Amino acid sequence: MSNPSLLILPGDGIGPEVMAEVRKIIDWFGAKRDLVFDVSEDLVGGAAYDAHGTPLHDDTMAKAQEVDAVLLGAVGGPKYDVLDFSVKPERGLLRLRKEMDLFANLRPAQCFDALADFSSLKTEVVSGLDIMIVRELTSGVYFGEPRGIFEEGNERVGINTQRYTESEIERVARASFELAMKRDKKLCSMEKANVMESGILWREVVTRVGADYPEVELSHMYADAGAMQLTRWPKQFDVIVTDNLFGDLLSDLAAMLTGSLGMLPSASLGAPMANGRPKAMYEPVHGSAPDIAGQGKANPIACILSFAMALRYSFDQGDEATRLEKAIEAVLADGYRTADLLGEEGRDPVSTSAMGDAIVAALDASL
Ligand code: NAI
Ligand code: MG
Repeated sequence: MSNPSLLILPGDGIGPEVMAEVRKIIDWFGAKRDLVFDVSEDLVGGAAYDAHGTPLHDDTMAKAQEVDAVLLGAVGGPKYDVLDFSVKPERGLLRLRKEMDLFANLRPAQCFDALADFSSLKTEVVSGLDIMIVRELTSGVYFGEPRGIFEEGNERVGINTQRYTESEIERVARASFELAMKRDKKLCSMEKANVMESGILWREVVTRVGADYPEVELSHMYADAGAMQLTRWPKQFDVIVTDNLFGDLLSDLAAMLTGSLGMLPSASLGAPMANGRPKAMYEPVHGSAPDIAGQGKANPIACILSFAMALRYSFDQGDEATRLEKAIEAVLADGYRTADLLGEEGRDPVSTSAMGDAIVAALDASL
């Protein structure tokens, strides 16, 4: 059997800096766990524009369609602000998401004990927290027709339409049940079936898909109540699935339960490929951070955790993903902090590469 394949797109700003640390982790798994990936690397965003005059070359797009998973750093930067909208770095990212049809956006909220007091919530509310929000990403009110600003009598009316087909709901529901099967087998679906027909259909379809996953405990919640429960006692949840709009809000809310932008990974999944693996792209939530780029200050953990998600959700290596997360936990417990994790504390931060090296050393210690 051939090795699993990984396309790395470091991108711009701190993207290449944090990706260099991920490369150390990938190399470690190859050398020490016999988990060898066929890694190729290419350009995206401003870096691709500089080389090819486009934020994503067709050849790169084709490669992304073929590999088992794409790992992306970040795109953009002030240098590219003057560019025409059609070639802006972000367009490279959007093209990847659209052409790979990545309809399920996964945003975990995971609390590392060493950072529990970094949260704005009480330590006991967040310590040990490990939940996953699945946001539908390619349909719903951001895309539904009719939309626009229209004249109506002597005033204007702004219109957006929440629209979901059964198949759109079904595929994101199925992806969420599959995730729940790899986690704690609990899924909570959130909509507003009390006031929205699209919510009624959503609830009905999710329930129907649930019949295929009898091991998963399915519950339903109105999204506004869900927002309250997420801040009151987030540990009641395992996987949450919701639509594009509610997911936009709830995933940002959940992300901030635990802390810093430099710690937040994400995944975007599409339909299963011939080998049964979903099309997938993994990336940190943060951007290219031009204010700290090139200074060795970036926290590589968000990107490394994105690779841990790839191990778990694309490569069926849940135990190795846990090993990597535990190594990160250990390094944080030992007091290693990049600048973003220090807040007002006066001590010296560690550099991007020192953080990566410490995580590799913790992986060694895990054997
Ligand atoms: P940003 O996420 O790049 O930075 C926001 C703040 O968080 C900055 O102060 C930055 O220094 C800090 N930060 C971000 N990641 C960090 C890390 N790993 N370690 C330590 N500190 C970190 O968002 P911003 O400043 O709004 O956007 C900068 C550029 O990135 C823009 O060109 C924007 O379009 C692009 N962007 C790209 C994204 C992507 O590629 N997915 C997502 C968000 C923004
Ligand atoms: Mg958002």
